[in-house]
Formats: sequence, C-alpha cells, structure tokens
Amino acid sequence: HGTSTIDHNGHLSIGGVDTVQLAKRYGTPLFVYDVALIRQKANEFKKAFDQHGIGYQIAYASKAFSCIAMIQLAEEEGLSLDVVSGGELHTALVAGFPPERIHFHGNNKSLAEIEMGMKAGIGCFVVDNFYEIKLLEETAKKHGKIVPVLIRTTPGIEAHTHDYILTGQEDSKFGFDLKSGQAEKAINQLLHHPNFRLLGLHCHIGSQIFETTGFIMATKKLFVFIERLKAQLGYTPDVLNVGGGFGIRYTEEDNPIPLSHYVNDIIHTVKEEVHRIGCEMPEIWIEPGRSLVGDAGTTLYTIGSEKTIPSIRQYLAVDGGMTDNLRPALYQAKYEGILANRANEKNSSLFSIAGKACESGDMLIWDLPLPEPNHGDLLAVFSTGAYGYAMSNNYNRIPRPAVVFVENGESQLVIKRETYEDLLSHDLPIKNALTN
Ligand code: LLP
Repeated sequence: HGTSTIDHNGHLSIGGVDTVQLAKRYGTPLFVYDVALIRQKANEFKKAFDQHGIGYQIAYASKAFSCIAMIQLAEEEGLSLDVVSGGELHTALVAGFPPERIHFHGNNKSLAEIEMGMKAGIGCFVVDNFYEIKLLEETAKKHGKIVPVLIRTTPGIEAHTHDYILTGQEDSKFGFDLKSGQAEKAINQLLHHPNFRLLGLHCHIGSQIFETTGFIMATKKLFVFIERLKAQLGYTPDVLNVGGGFGIRYTEEDNPIPLSHYVNDIIHTVKEEVHRIGCEMPEIWIEPGRSLVGDAGTTLYTIGSEKTIPSIRQYLAVDGGMTDNLRPALYQAKYEGILANRANEKNSSLFSIAGKACESGDMLIWDLPLPEPNHGDLLAVFSTGAYGYAMSNNYNRIPRPAVVFVENGESQLVIKRETYEDLLSHDLPIKNALTN
C-alpha cells in the first residue's frame, strides 16, 4: 500500500527508497514514514469536507505520533492540531505550528499546562471537568483573557473496540456526562462568563472504529441534548467536534472503510438534525490520529536469535519489540510483516516474532508466514505509524529507535536514535560513592 513496492532484487522499497539501504544507513530498529501516504490521507479528509461546503477543521491527534517534523508536516497539510499535554503543546509551538489552530485536550491539565496554553493563545481548551473550569477561570482572570472552550461530553456510546481504547461510554474518566446533568451544569458555568467563549461541544467515542454507526448515534445523542439547550438556554453550539477513531488495516482481518464515508455520514446526520431542531449549521471538527499516520509507518528490525521447539513453534527474535511497539503486549494487537530484503521469496513456514525485552509477553507477531530466515535478515512490520514510537519506552534501558521520513526517493532523519549517553543524561550518582 502507499508508495511501497518490491524492487526487482526483492527489496521492499518505501517512498522510492530501498529499505535495505535505509537499515544500512540509519540502523535498526527504524521507523520509516511514507510521507506521501500521510498527505494522501489528509487530502481524503479535506476533499470529503470540501464537497459539503461547510466550515470544518481536521485536527491531527498528535498523541498518535508527535515530533517536530510530523507537526510541521501537519501544518503543511493545513491541518489543525490536537495536543493532550504540555509536552505535545511544547513540541507544536517549537515546530512553529500556528497556536490558533491548536486544541488542548486532557482530563487533568495542570495549572502550568493551562498557563502555557493561554500564554501561547491556543485555539481552544477542550474542557474536561469542573476542576479544570476552576483552574481556567482563575488563570484567565489573572491574565485578563477570554478563553475559547469546547465542552467534552460523553454521549454514552460504546463503539466496538478494545476496552482500554473505549472513551465515549458513560463510565469513563473523560468529559461531562450528558445523562446526569453534568454537561448542562458546565455549560451554565461557561456560557455567560466574561472570561470564556463557549465554542461548542466535543465527544470522542473510541478508537479503531470500522463503522459509521457509532458516529451517527453519538451525533444524534448530542442533538437531543442540543435541542434541550436551545429550549432552556437559547444556546446552540457554533462548533461540533466529533473526535477521531477512524480505523485502519493492521492485518487482513481488518476491513477499513474509506475515510470519506465517516465524514459524509457525520455531516449528513448533522444536517438532518440541524433541520429537525431548527438551528444554524455548526462547524464540524474531527480529530484523526491513527487514520492519518498509522499505515504510513513501517518498522524495520534485524533478525537475531532463533529458537525452535520441535513440532510446537519457531521463535525469531528481533532487535526491538515492546519497547518500540507496546500495542501487542498491551492490547493483543495484531500486525503483519515480511522479510524486507527477500520480499519476493516464497514463505516456508510460520515464525513467531519475539522482542528482546526480558518479558515473556514481549511478542510482536504470532505465527507469521516467512521464507526460511537467516540471521541479519530484515523484518518489516507494517502499520506501526500510530501509537508505536509515541508509546515507546526504555524498559530494560533499551534506547528508542530512530525515525526517518521518506518521500520521492529521498530519506530524512526526523528523530535521532537514542544513545546510551541519552539514557544516562538524567541519572545522578549516589552521594556517598562520590565523596572519598
Ligand atoms: N481525540 C480524542 C479525544 C482521543 O482521545 C483520541 C484518542 C483521538 C482523538 C485520536 O484517536 P484515533 O483517531 O487515533 O483513533 N493507544 C491506543 C489508542 C488510544 C487512543 C486514545 N485517544 C492504541 O494504540 O490503539
């Protein structure tokens, strides 16, 4: 998919660049991002919205993969940006991203984070809870600011996905509940407040969703709520942010629908509901993370040791694992891969791909069909672009991999490989050991 091809010599090539050369030049494990594919996904969303002639924003959920170059790419593509922490906000600001297109999420924003966002003049805070309203109010008063806000609601929709990734159901740590009157109370606090400008409502129903039904249901629920707000407060939102969660293909079992289908069904539903209750058409905002960068990312590993348990299993170990891709260990997420240096050869049998961390659960792929591998072969694992590097860690003091962008036959290092010095850069020696 994307710009991936198999060369005449059996090498996997991405963005016109031979992955065998990439591995030689930058080492492994290596994240390789197909920049053209990210641009293509952004365009699919933009085109879908443009057809409806309505106001919109597509905010890249930078939690999926954030680094300076990625933020700059999002800016080049005219996207807005969803950040969820001071660290993501800092990255965005250093990357030169226009603050007015940044939306600040999070269920426990600190006072320092709130100050940072206000000082930068970000586009909006997505308000999650009453404590945050209090912090925002105090900070806004202190600096004499009027803060644009969206209210995050939980519409009580359970999209079909993994439990850990569910966020829209009522029993959630995020947002204001619609049923119990929390959301209404929050709106009452914010609506005529001199330090707030209430832009509208937000909801996010979950992640890796393959149907539009959940989005349609959530939109309808929001409009039942809006109908009440209109009657009681004379308020209707200028902005409706329906979150992200659009699914991608990890393995053959996944059947993603075109991105335009989500956009079309959401907009149709909003138009219907706007007509039903008789209000102005709000701007529609979405927050895709995975669907913009997920399948643009490929991880290259070098194959090392192997272990065969006769008539049970063949294990192959690679030079990374749960430290650069936590998703299999955390969510039993499934991936597919090939030998990137021998991509034209026939598969001989099944191999289970182990990581190198001291943890039995550090298995990347079970029962992957491959040609008989040799030490030093390159394994390419696909669709690692979202929540891969972003959730990487230093368990076992394993340094984080490097990340490269490839496009039009050229590669560019965008995150350097961590060194052992990097790993020690925050360590301080014990006092007694130093004094003699
Ligand atoms: N907006 C909000 C408010 C969110 O909470 C999320 C994801 C997104 C947008 C972007 O969702 P996406 O389009 O990427 O599905 N670590 C998990 C995913 C956690 C998603 C959390 N929220 C994973 O690796 O599957």
